[in-house]
Amino acid sequence: MSHPMSNHPILVTGGGGLLGRTLASLSTPDRPIVAVGRSELDVTDAESIARALGRHRPTAVVNAAAMTDVDGCERDPEAAMLANAAGPGLLAEACTRSATRLVHVSTDFVFDGTKREPYTTDDTPKPISVYGRSKLEGELTVLAAQPGALIVRTSWLFGVGGKNFASRIFEYASATNRLKGIVDMRSLPTYAPDLAARILELINLDTSGTFHCCNSGEPATWFDVARAALDDAGRSDVELIPVTVAELGLPAPRPAFSAMRCVRSEALGLAPMRPWRDAIKAFAAEAAIGPRPAPK
Ligand SMILES: NC(=O)c1ccc[n+]([C@@H]2O[C@H](COP(=O)([O-])OP(=O)(O)OC[C@H]3O[C@@H](n4cnc5c(N)ncnc54)[C@H](OP(=O)(O)O)[C@@H]3O)[C@@H](O)[C@H]2O)c1
Repeated sequence: MSHPMSNHPILVTGGGGLLGRTLASLSTPDRPIVAVGRSELDVTDAESIARALGRHRPTAVVNAAAMTDVDGCERDPEAAMLANAAGPGLLAEACTRSATRLVHVSTDFVFDGTKREPYTTDDTPKPISVYGRSKLEGELTVLAAQPGALIVRTSWLFGVGGKNFASRIFEYASATNRLKGIVDMRSLPTYAPDLAARILELINLDTSGTFHCCNSGEPATWFDVARAALDDAGRSDVELIPVTVAELGLPAPRPAFSAMRCVRSEALGLAPMRPWRDAIKAFAAEAAIGPRPAPK
């Protein structure tokens, strides 16, 4: 499905987001990667998709665009379905018309969280939130329009500039030294640079189907992840207060357990992505957060 002219770029949607920016940072002259924001390519607008594909003539497209605010999706299901399901369908149709492979990024939140060992691609998704349902619908609309598309599910994506709890931990820690960490959700945190590298590896392999791509290790709670990140940044002084999801009163239900394992990557002989604990160390170094200066 790829164009023979190899100097055409990989085109990434959602270029203003964490994964989009991270993929763009891996661009090289031999393998250019162009990430475009919503103003250049809105996945819900067929004309803007056609214009961007015509302009860049990509060898492959990675859809890193999504409405990722889980509670925002719960409040506005229509917007969630548009961005996470209908839009990816339009993008897949356009990619199929121009014989371009689509890599569509999805989530561990397609699972209901009742399992106690990592979900594999053989497990049936059963989302419990609007976000999860919209993302599952997105996988299906993509596969309907491009059966050979690559679906990459990831979990608890974090990195510098990201918006979730782990991504912003150092920002929070510079404002206060008491933070709440959720203790009754467990998954595998995934560092955006590691996911981006794995996506490029999968594109190189010219494979298709559904993959689970997350950092490896024991499934962790947000509390565990926060403690590890704060310790690595020399912020053992920050007190973490254990809380449950129910105590936070969030609008959207979350799966209690959503760690995933990738039997397809194992079958292909791909090395596991590094343990999340090592990825947190790299994140703390990248964020370059030092101990808080002593008060004068
Ligand atoms: N973050 C996580 O914890 C997590 C976990 C599992 C899976 N994922 C999946 O990983 C992928 C990347 O996530 P991320 O963390 O990089 O998300 P992100 O930082 O929220 O970035 C998503 C980007 O998509 C853009 N976008 C939204 N609607 C769009 C549209 N209609 N057309 C074009 N762009 C649009 C957003 O722009 P605006 O800012 O303008 O809205 C934003 O820049 C998503 O598919 C997400 O579902 C994320």
